[in-house]
Amino acid sequence: MAKEISLATVKEHNKSDDLWIVIENKVYDVTKFRSEHPGGEDTLDYVAGRDGTKEFIEVGHSLEAREILKKFYIGDLAAADIKKKSPVRCAHVGLALGAIILGFALIYVIKRGGGPKQ
Ligand code: HEM
Repeated sequence: MAKEISLATVKEHNKSDDLWIVIENKVYDVTKFRSEHPGGEDTLDYVAGRDGTKEFIEVGHSLEAREILKKFYIGDLAAADIKKKSPVRCAHVGLALGAIILGFALIYVIKRGGGPKQ
């Protein structure tokens, strides 16, 4: 199993000569790659010791960039530090929306006089 690394540990490696970065919940030690990065050293310094997924994706890196990344993989982000989308919350929003739509549909039907006959 891959080694689990906490965000706090990643944060300790936020220097240009000791540079870890999280991308899509995987941890990379890109210290040695810093000087070779076609996008410059500063860009990597900017995300040093933290989650750089957003920045990495925004640039629209090539598949080659992703291949390079694999070489620097050192472990997975600890489960406790992974932000999850809550399925419970999604279900609640879905139910609430469903109830509102049903309510409006009922009002519409009753106003048209098409409601249940007495
Ligand atoms: C740590 C993992 C990273 C790797 C392995 C990597 C690799 C590469 C590679 C191979 C390129 C050349 C173009 C391409 O193939 O897409 C590139 C370009 C670039 N990268 Fe990264 N990159 C990384 C992280 C980042 C981050 C976190 C940022 C922004 C904060 C960034 C900003 C850029 C920019 C702006 C370019 C464009 C350079 C240009 O076209 O002039 N990179 N990167």
